[in-house]
Amino acid sequence: MSIDFTDKVAIVTGAGGGLGRAYALELARRGAKVVVNDLGGARDGTGASDAAAQVVQEIEAAGGEAMANGASVTEYEQMEAMVAEAKDRWGGVHILINNAGVLRDKSFAKMTPQDFEFVVRVHLLGSAYATKACWETMREQSYGRILMTSSSTGLFGNFGQANYGAAKLGLAGLTKTLYLEGAKNNIKVNTLAPVAGTRMTEDLFPEQAFKLFSPENVVPAALYLVSEDAPTNAIVGAGAGGYHSAWVVMNDAVFLPEGERTVEGFAAHWDRISAQENLHAPQSGAEQSGAILKAMQAAGAA
Ligand code: NAI
Repeated sequence: MSIDFTDKVAIVTGAGGGLGRAYALELARRGAKVVVNDLGGARDGTGASDAAAQVVQEIEAAGGEAMANGASVTEYEQMEAMVAEAKDRWGGVHILINNAGVLRDKSFAKMTPQDFEFVVRVHLLGSAYATKACWETMREQSYGRILMTSSSTGLFGNFGQANYGAAKLGLAGLTKTLYLEGAKNNIKVNTLAPVAGTRMTEDLFPEQAFKLFSPENVVPAALYLVSEDAPTNAIVGAGAGGYHSAWVVMNDAVFLPEGERTVEGFAAHWDRISAQENLHAPQSGAEQSGAILKAMQAAGAA
């Protein structure tokens, strides 16, 4: 089965280097017309360059079709203009990979409110703005494939990345509501947690690991998650040729009799309440209250 993107228009944010560049090159190689968005700044988000134009040149040299866009994902009007330009030239927007990102790592004790806000602004608001700019078009087309870029820090935590982790788990949360709202218009939304040797991670990986974790190893997961037959509401991890899924899970609710609904009663049952047993992954928030009602019924209290 070959997966093809002919006649699809794709926007990849932050595609001037690293993972985004690898996605853009492969999307174009498989027939997509690609908007290569990148502000071209440094790792901490300062400065600007023509990184996007260089990737467009690479795509064109290989016979593909692409346009450069130097907008910042943090500016909603610029995202609207980017989508309008893509529609003018190619007639629609079918795929959005929200990939742009920055780092301002510090322990929370040393992190300034400005560094917290900036990182949340680029990752979380930037992805929401780019998505919002495409949303109506995707609804009208009855076709949309959107990928949010989360990270192990967002899903599981990492010392020194409170701002980044908060934004990255927020993106998984954004997926979980947008997949519900997009379903009736054939809009599928997924979350990717990549691991790759890029400028973002160059001082974290030893040299050997840097090569093993090449961005090209993440491309299969990213492109499948924006393909025609993509799943929706998946959280996928990818790095160095290893691929896995992750979920937000809950266990069965423990239903406490009325007399035990005290702080002490809760404490007495904490082992059962926190047991990693019978885990299930609700597909919407309503399933949490449904599970509580189920426990109530099982306890004969409803
Ligand atoms: P990278 O630094 O090479 O790529 C990020 C790109 O986003 C840069 O080209 C940068 O210029 C661009 N960018 C930054 N702010 C922007 C803005 N306001 N508007 C438009 N473009 C902007 O790093 P990498 O590793 O390729 O990261 C890609 C994504 O993957 C990021 O969201 C990152 O957080 C995420 N990620 C990467 C991991 C890794 O192991 N490399 C791990 C987990 C997540």
